[in-house]
Amino acid sequence: MTEPVSLARRDLRQFVPYEAASPARDAVRLHANESAWRHDWDDSRAGLNRYPDPRPAAVLARLAELYEAPVEELLLTRGSDDAIDVLVRTMCAAGQDRVVVCPPTFGMYAVAARLQGAAVDLVPLDPERGFALDVDAVIAAGRSAKLVFLCSPNNPTGNLIPAEAVVRICQAMADHGLVVVDEAYSEFAPEQSFAGLRQACPNLVLLRTLSKAYALAGARLGVLIGDADLVRLLRAVLPPYPVPSPCLEAAERLLRPEPVAQARAEVAAMTTRREALRQALELAPAILEIWPSAGNFLLVRCRDAAAVVAACSEAGLLIRDFSRAPGLQHCVRITVGDESHNARLLDAIGAATPEVSHG
Ligand SMILES: Cc1ncc(COP(=O)(O)O)c(C=O)c1O
Repeated sequence: MTEPVSLARRDLRQFVPYEAASPARDAVRLHANESAWRHDWDDSRAGLNRYPDPRPAAVLARLAELYEAPVEELLLTRGSDDAIDVLVRTMCAAGQDRVVVCPPTFGMYAVAARLQGAAVDLVPLDPERGFALDVDAVIAAGRSAKLVFLCSPNNPTGNLIPAEAVVRICQAMADHGLVVVDEAYSEFAPEQSFAGLRQACPNLVLLRTLSKAYALAGARLGVLIGDADLVRLLRAVLPPYPVPSPCLEAAERLLRPEPVAQARAEVAAMTTRREALRQALELAPAILEIWPSAGNFLLVRCRDAAAVVAACSEAGLLIRDFSRAPGLQHCVRITVGDESHNARLLDAIGAATPEVSHG
């Protein structure tokens, strides 16, 4: 089995990172060229005049508990977007390495790869089979790739990838690449993380985020879970103070039993609302098809996506138009709102019946 860290860009394998100033707060800090004073409106605990702790032990310990993974296998990032970016920059040499992406899926995998000058090989999901992954085609494309990006539940299609598929792809990539499963929406799904596969599949990397189920999108907090040596290298590639202190303080406030229990109750309530919304949308003449979803959104095929988007906009509601994505003609993605948002949405879509929109 090839060590995952040995698959990183050759020129980064001995990389020496910038050394962040000691985060110690129990001595007078005259070592980091910070300001000695703080604003009178600065109500942060750490003080915004001070650099944040680059390795916030309390937050990391609580995240290790939340995700049931050892601390040394966790990389704290500014959301999963940052994790995707640092993975591509660390693993792929510009003009040389390739990544595999399975559309329709989250757009940042291809964006990060293109920004880094890595080639992107597309292996489309199969719309005829509920957007199932073509495992053999992913394995074939993966032969020349450094990274395979998978997303489960997938955005925007809402379906899950079976564990056997992940294992097969990891095994096929074991001597030359990493398999990254983005689990941004896994808290909403009945079967949760692939964390249990990590021991058997050391080249499996998981991405988790506090943006979705934990309602902290504004704090930009994500966690990459992977091989400890790989995590050490990725941390060296990130900026020296990767997460701002107000965001770390938000994480500390979240990662206590009560707020976590509240988030879990909200997730359960959202799944009930999602199914109620689906049933109501199924009755709307403007809607042709709704796919099953294990996320906090529904992918919906409309008779006329532009008319539905316009009717929602008229009602002050934003939904995402995917009609230009391959295989998603006339599809929109709707995030499940609270009761009142969903009622407004149903009203608006009711108003977008084909007769009205064309009339
Ligand atoms: C599949 C998926 N991954 C990652 C993200 C971004 O997550 P974060 O807010 O942690 O950067 C999103 C955001 O919509 C997403 O849909």
